[in-house]
Amino acid sequence: MSTNARRDQRNKRNKSSQIMKDIAYSILFNIFVVIHMLVDYLVELILKWYWGPTRIRCPPLQRKRVILTYSVQELAKMIRNKDVSCYEVVSAYIDRLNEVNPVINAVIDGPFIEALEEAKAIDDRIQRGLISENEFAEKPFLGIPFTTKDSTAVKDKLHTLGIVARRNVKAKEDAECVKLMKDAGAIIIATTSIPEINRWQETRNNLIGQTNNPYDSRRTVGGSSGGEAALITTCGSAFGLGTDIGGSIRMPAFYCGIFGHKPTSGIVNTRGCTLRTGREVSTMVVAGPMTRYASDLRPIMKVLVGPKATVALKLNEKTDLKKLRYFYCTSSGDIRCSSVHPQLQRAMTRVVDHFQTIAPEGVQKVTLKNSEKTSQMWRYWMTQEPASFNNLLGNGKQLSPFVELAKKITGSSEYTLASIYSLIDSIMPPEKADKIKEITRQCDQDLTELLGDDGVLFYHSTTNSAPYHYSAFVNVFNFSYWCLFNVLHVPATQVPLGLDPDGLPLGIQIVATRNRDRHCLAVAEELERAFSGHIPSFIID
Ligand SMILES: *[C@@H]1O[C@H](CO)[C@@H](O)[C@H](O)[C@H]1NC(C)=O
Repeated sequence: MSTNARRDQRNKRNKSSQIMKDIAYSILFNIFVVIHMLVDYLVELILKWYWGPTRIRCPPLQRKRVILTYSVQELAKMIRNKDVSCYEVVSAYIDRLNEVNPVINAVIDGPFIEALEEAKAIDDRIQRGLISENEFAEKPFLGIPFTTKDSTAVKDKLHTLGIVARRNVKAKEDAECVKLMKDAGAIIIATTSIPEINRWQETRNNLIGQTNNPYDSRRTVGGSSGGEAALITTCGSAFGLGTDIGGSIRMPAFYCGIFGHKPTSGIVNTRGCTLRTGREVSTMVVAGPMTRYASDLRPIMKVLVGPKATVALKLNEKTDLKKLRYFYCTSSGDIRCSSVHPQLQRAMTRVVDHFQTIAPEGVQKVTLKNSEKTSQMWRYWMTQEPASFNNLLGNGKQLSPFVELAKKITGSSEYTLASIYSLIDSIMPPEKADKIKEITRQCDQDLTELLGDDGVLFYHSTTNSAPYHYSAFVNVFNFSYWCLFNVLHVPATQVPLGLDPDGLPLGIQIVATRNRDRHCLAVAEELERAFSGHIPSFIID
């Protein structure tokens, strides 16, 4: 046999062994997917049985308090025009908070009674004509009640980070984002619940227990800004400030059927959020708004970034939706998380169909390079964050995962199971830094080249509507649809898209490249206009 013939034969063998490998891989992949579905199904069945048939929903809203369902923009205008007093608005919100909290269990500190005094003082000044046009312009949120999560500091209010050791700790000064909202005229009425150190996909701590989903009390509100989402969706707060390091604004917003915007990293000062100084370089965490109306996101963003950045980010410019380019992605390909439920695929199809009629070039289906490695990327980048979870959880002292696990098993731990899980994860083999940096770079480059200055991407929020409490312990990776955009530091808006047959909220994410927050907001506003927007968990009677 000639050398050429031998080489040909070898090539053939290599080729066929590659094909065999591909087939084997695809069979294994499918077996894995089926096992995953079976496990999800079983977990769902067991938890359904565990939580029983009783589904408690949010109490009805009395018709006389219907102003609570208005947007922040409408309410602010009404207060300015003396159509309603600020006192009426604030006291109605506080009454509603007291009514819904026994069901949702979302409040850590509050309601703050001094908010009523503040409201009276504002009414007095408005009545006497003491507020100039200038002051109204500088305070677009004058008299509007709002809330924030416990981990974001509010002067003289509880700042526990969800841990028992800090149960009586109060903040010495306002976080920057809280200060900015107060300066814009808004009135803080309560702080809301979080998982310990914000580190879990459910909102549960040993201070007040777990926060319940107002659409179905047996289900999770997500985390970590879970108290915020539950309170806002039930009209116990007009709007809220969340923070997001791996989906913490968007996940609870999705499960509770409201809007949430995770801004581009770095454009909102994080001083006072989970004890940060605001000077940390390169962090995935960012503060942002949570609302019942898409149209309220933009005015809050303008306050949070300040006048200079509002101009730089073109937040005042009207977006021509016809001039944007649209893309959608139906799966991240990450086999650690479940496959996306058909009802969410259908929701995405509705969105795509709608934008097909707007965009001359249509909506193009894409996959993102390396998105299937999202879980690993996020896990690595979490280890590069300036704050140490272990240290924060220990309230300044480094905890030993083994000791804490032993304490948990013997029932003497002061921490939740979720925190023990995170402690254990921290001693598991680390991701390979060089490899992760490279796949992150490629993923970033792929998204940046795809979207450029004028592209938006429709991406799933997660794989299904709100799961039962505790589901996340069996399936920790569904949240990777959110955390990809923390890894990439890009803006992403969570938009509600009606309810599923169980009456639970559905939704989608809108993604753009860094500093194109305005595209996300414009598309969210259009989706609110075209579809149902936020659908309440309660009836009005
Ligand atoms: C993950 O997704 C599957 C499939 O949609 C679902 O059954 C399960 O409840 C989800 N778990 C969590 C924690 O999101």
